[in-house]
Amino acid sequence: MSATTHAKGSNPLSIRARKGGIPLVCLTAYTTPVARLVDPHCDLVLVGDSVGMVLHGLPSTVGVTLDMMILHGQAVRRGIENALLVVDMPFGSYEESPAQAFRNASRIMAETGCAAVKLEGGVSMAETISFLVARGIPVMAHVGLTPQGVNAFGGYTVQGRGEDAGGVIADARAVAYAGAFSVVLEKVPETLARAITAEIDIPTIGIGASPACDGQILVVDDMLGLFTDFRPKFVKRYAELGHATTEAVVAYAEDVRQRRFPGPEHVFAEKLPGKKS
Ligand code: KIV
Repeated sequence: MSATTHAKGSNPLSIRARKGGIPLVCLTAYTTPVARLVDPHCDLVLVGDSVGMVLHGLPSTVGVTLDMMILHGQAVRRGIENALLVVDMPFGSYEESPAQAFRNASRIMAETGCAAVKLEGGVSMAETISFLVARGIPVMAHVGLTPQGVNAFGGYTVQGRGEDAGGVIADARAVAYAGAFSVVLEKVPETLARAITAEIDIPTIGIGASPACDGQILVVDDMLGLFTDFRPKFVKRYAELGHATTEAVVAYAEDVRQRRFPGPEHVFAEKLPGKKS
């Protein structure tokens, strides 16, 4: 496989087997058309709970519900043929007990057709991850900055600097030992990401965690530049669709006001006998 291709028909085992290999390409998607566009180029597509902030205008991911995740999971599933589809478990749907997590994860899988779920947390979630994995639910873990804990963290700050590194290392070790097939490392310093990636035997998928990771993930709307006022340091913009959309809408509004749109090519003539319309 070359660096420009990705595995067809990815699954949790094939993703795990990519540890230390060609970096894994991962993106979020929330709708069928975007899923269709990203699927041929990605190893893994995540229906992230970022959907709450990106598509629904919520101030954080805390208000995202199971029903929202299932609805968007179903939409994305219709656009996926090759990548591994992973759906996020939303805040409050898994933390109470392993049994609660199993009930909700199995519902997500049955109703969306995804092959794995993602949940946030390290040491504190290790027992739940083992419980799910032992019962046939592949789990992608998420440590470092875990956005569902924004109220506890007091913001979206870099995690694991200085003396705090030990906590993130313990979290990464715990989820790997518990049987997660991969782990998202969010917003941690490069040295820490490198040390964790070297130590654990499952792929690390970085977001704001340097090229030292085994793969990368971004929120698709961020890398497409759909937000004109949101520019986090860790996001590279590969397009400026926010500005392009504004320009298109301004041109449309002007055309309508000047009666330049619709033009003759957009107008239906009266149907003449024997002529196709
Ligand atoms: O919700 C999300 O989109 C995520 C990724 C950015 C890792 O958790």
